Amino acid sequence: MILGQSIRKNSIIMGLFAIITTGLIVLTQVGTADQIEFAKRQALEKALQEIVPTSLFDNRLLEDTVEIAANKQLGSKKIRTAYIATKDNAPAAIILQATAPEGYGGSIHFLVGIQADGAVTGVRVVPPHFETPGLGDKIDLAKSNWILSFNGKSLTNLEPEQWKVKKDGGQFDAFTGATITPRALVDGVHKSLLYFDEHKLSLFGTQTTFSVTATPPDTGTSL
Ligand SMILES: Cc1cc2nc3c(=O)[nH]c(=O)nc-3n(C[C@H](O)[C@H](O)[C@H](O)COP(=O)(O)O)c2cc1C
Repeated sequence: MILGQSIRKNSIIMGLFAIITTGLIVLTQVGTADQIEFAKRQALEKALQEIVPTSLFDNRLLEDTVEIAANKQLGSKKIRTAYIATKDNAPAAIILQATAPEGYGGSIHFLVGIQADGAVTGVRVVPPHFETPGLGDKIDLAKSNWILSFNGKSLTNLEPEQWKVKKDGGQFDAFTGATITPRALVDGVHKSLLYFDEHKLSLFGTQTTFSVTATPPDTGTSL
């Protein structure tokens, strides 16, 4: 009888212990998931601010977004979010997510910031990419400043045939022994500008007064 009571008591204690422990684990997971999501958003906001300098806008980039359907010029196969920068409520710039499909190691995903006047404010490769270390990976700002060569370039200050690597008669340097990677990215950025040029009115909504400011200097910081 006493043994039976003791077993029942211990079972209840163990059951309660299991319920409390499970509850604590669930609570911790929910709390951590929120923190992870917050940290991700902060990292994204910081990355976006490298592409369009904060002096050019006064809104929250993560809150002014537009969804862009899959598009060949952007190399995208699914809906992607674009981030709109505004100053005094006038469109100042946009950050597009695009893909250069013809990298040496496969597709190269990148972000391109474009001012309302069509000039590039910055380009950064979105990891991971599969270009070869020491050859194609110079597209990464951590490895070289090459990606900054897009800053200030536009469809107005470069002719279509100049949107190529020098080896192909264009304006952009290639890397020693690695032409495929920079060729892919130059083509990808050019096509993103063409996309923006065709769609800027719909991307920026109904507003037609664009805030145009001088192209910012290179920041030299990495994404
Ligand atoms: C193992 C290996 C890895 C390579 N990785 C790259 C790379 O990441 N990016 C690149 O542009 N070329 C890379 N190359 C070189 C290309 O094959 C090609 O020779 C180079 O891009 C020059 O191209 P071009 O003949 O069109 O100028 C690699 C070559 C080898 C053998």
